[in-house]
Amino acid sequence: MTSNANQYTWAGRFSEPVSDLVKRYTASVDFDQRMWRQDIRGSLAHARMLARQGIITASDLADIERGLGVIHEEIEAGRFVWSLDLEDVHLNIEKRLTALVGDAGKRLHTGRSRNDQVATDIRLYLRDAIDDIQALLKQFRSALVDLAEKEAATPMPGFTHLQVAQPVTFGHHLLAYFEMFSRDAERFADCRKRTARLPLGAAALAGATYPIDRESVAAELGFEAVCENSLDAVSDRDFAIEFCAACSLFMMHISRLSEELVMWMSPRIGFIRIADRFCTGSSIMPQKKNPDVPELARGKTGRVYGHLMSLLTLMKSQPLAYNKDNQEDKEPLFDAVDTVTDTLRIFADMADGITVRADNMAEALTQGFATATDLADYLVKMGLPFRDAHEAVGQAVKAAESRGVDLSGLTLDELKTFSPLIGEDVYAVLTVAGSLAARNHIGGTAPEQVRAAIARARFRL
Ligand code: ARG
Repeated sequence: MTSNANQYTWAGRFSEPVSDLVKRYTASVDFDQRMWRQDIRGSLAHARMLARQGIITASDLADIERGLGVIHEEIEAGRFVWSLDLEDVHLNIEKRLTALVGDAGKRLHTGRSRNDQVATDIRLYLRDAIDDIQALLKQFRSALVDLAEKEAATPMPGFTHLQVAQPVTFGHHLLAYFEMFSRDAERFADCRKRTARLPLGAAALAGATYPIDRESVAAELGFEAVCENSLDAVSDRDFAIEFCAACSLFMMHISRLSEELVMWMSPRIGFIRIADRFCTGSSIMPQKKNPDVPELARGKTGRVYGHLMSLLTLMKSQPLAYNKDNQEDKEPLFDAVDTVTDTLRIFADMADGITVRADNMAEALTQGFATATDLADYLVKMGLPFRDAHEAVGQAVKAAESRGVDLSGLTLDELKTFSPLIGEDVYAVLTVAGSLAARNHIGGTAPEQVRAAIARARFRL
């Protein structure tokens, strides 16, 4: 019994071992081993500080560095044996270190607890993940800008309530998404600031009794500052929640874009084609080409929202300081990282694979009286109050609809019956090109403005 219990690093005061079920229930090594690089990096920084401060000897440090180097190679080569008995990534690595270098390995944990160790590892992991996400987000945003540039002047119907509203250019429409994803990048950058703070030194919860130097560890790990309060340092998971909130907003944007891609790809609309490599067929209907990637991205959005809810709920009733509940922070966080990273990889590539069906977009613009507002604006410029202009154009739309033509299909005489102010020059206003060109101010859809917006977007990238 006793010897069995003692296989645990912490088992000194225990008299019976945990059951296999409890062992599995409490272990995290299956999912936290992915933080092994961060665990080693954190341990190296901690050990170097201990040696600098004279808390361990230079020769202990040399042993620790050598041992961790071996472990690094073993894990990378897939030769490292992970053990459920050793609970988590931290104890697995520490135990192996001791097996490799003896007493020096046992000294590594001086002035440290797994509580500040795990908090440090997660922050390092997340900071690296945010950097990867930012790089991918940049690629994706620039792919959107490239497509927007190609289609800067391609007219399509803009919708409100999913009814044809006014002409816009496809480039302008894409730049709306560029703005959303740029705000996402800002949010990730902001979250990174609060992630890059060092918990080490907080030890279990109250701090360490050795002459530690936390600032130097923070500097070595590239953190911006140390966590100010030891209790907060070991129990704070705000950064993970913020990250999942930023991921949720990002996925919400991806989901909106996906919804549009799915609609645009439907043969009933036919605004775009997506390269075959992002679609799949049906096992029964040979004619089908399904937009699986955008559909799945739309679906995965729900799963990321779920992770945000998990983490918020995980933290809501925890008393200070560390509680084992915190071990449950990893799977939601890691899955949010994976989902967002994979989604970005695919979308950056997919943006390149979009072909625009300008003919169908133009065709859609001939239905729905997209230039009705332009006619009203024309009458206002002739001196009619806007509400009267709105009424007159409403009558004109009714007449055109019953005749099955667009507003520009009505003769000048017919148009004049709705307002005597209408003259020959009205046709310039009723065309899609005229409607687009008229919205010529910052943020407007005039192709000239879209090109200027693209130049600004490139500068921001
Ligand atoms: N595996 C644990 C976690 O993920 C590490 C910290 C354990 N600390 C403790 N006192 N049991 O949070």
